Amino acid sequence: MSSETIDQIAQLEADARRQVDAAADLEALRGCESAVIGKRSALAELNAGLGALPAAERRQVGQAIGEARSRIRSRVEARAEQLRALEAAQRVEAERLDLSEVWQVPAPGGIPDRGHLHLVTTTRDALEDVFVSMGFAVAEGPEAETDFYNFEALNMPPDHPARGMWDTLYLRLGAPETVLLRTHTSPVQIHLMQTQAPPIYAVMPGRCYRRDTPDARHLAVFHQIEGLVVDRGITFGDLAGTIEAFTASFFGPGMHSRLRPSFFPFTEPSAEFEVTCPICSGAGCRTCSGSGWLELGGCGMVDPNVFVAAGIDPEEHTGFAFGFGIDRLAQVRQGLEDMRILLDNDLRFLSQF
Ligand code: FA5
Repeated sequence: MSSETIDQIAQLEADARRQVDAAADLEALRGCESAVIGKRSALAELNAGLGALPAAERRQVGQAIGEARSRIRSRVEARAEQLRALEAAQRVEAERLDLSEVWQVPAPGGIPDRGHLHLVTTTRDALEDVFVSMGFAVAEGPEAETDFYNFEALNMPPDHPARGMWDTLYLRLGAPETVLLRTHTSPVQIHLMQTQAPPIYAVMPGRCYRRDTPDARHLAVFHQIEGLVVDRGITFGDLAGTIEAFTASFFGPGMHSRLRPSFFPFTEPSAEFEVTCPICSGAGCRTCSGSGWLELGGCGMVDPNVFVAAGIDPEEHTGFAFGFGIDRLAQVRQGLEDMRILLDNDLRFLSQF
């Protein structure tokens, strides 16, 4: 009886090994493990019948079952290790990007694969379109600026504490700390006012640089779009109305803006403007910390000192300015968790837009 049972155990073990080795993936292996050594396996059944055997036989058979079970368990672990390595290799292969620049000869009459504009560029183009349709012109300015344009003309004389609001990258050019990479697009306001008599209705998109450590919501190189209106009799109401019209036009109906008091040295009064959170349509979500609003940028009435620095008579003209982040806007609009993905050049991300 005992030797028959021992043979049976050996047979079950051999079957179990074959099944384990044949498992094609981890899920199949788990199923197989439960079938060969689980509670309802033939081995478990034999084990449950041990009580009916004479004492001496019971020990011998019990030991054989225990040893067979532990060898099968080791076999399962070894197979799991192999399958994990195989699945990892398959995943790497599936995610591999072919970055070699192979020119694909198009089929006769066919069109070769083409790249397309980056999400930040298409966002900038869409912004320009909206402002142009509202009667604004588009202007540009240099990315390397002098201290005068980036700070001084914007009502921040040397040593003004507000300069600390922008972590600046200086260039080794001329006297120390006189030439820099612009920290915002606001200096283009000054260039424009110096070269163009009012009325001015313009937006100025472009690249900006800050000594910011990149994180989920900051890049060291990013983009802003600046707006400037200078005319006779411009009021804060015109500023609020323009921002609201822009918000509805860019984001669509049901989206609104609101202004909250803030401080910028070049505008007085100053405000931060927020728009209805496009992710939750104002209901409150993780992205907007439950408030239903997302901050986009700053704005305010042009400070008279800025008009004077740019050669415009503040007695005759008033105006407003605003500026906000294009990358931040693209992030908010597309619900991107981390802004750094915009710089990764990952085709799986880029090709979605
Ligand atoms: C300014 O830069 C002001 N020049 C805006 C302004 C213009 C105010 C005209 C008044 C009148 P601020 O530092 O808050 O303000 O930046 C404006 C926006 O730029 C931010 O709300 C954000 O959207 C974007 N931004 C700022 N720093 C970064 C960064 N490191 N990475 C990505 N976006 C940024």
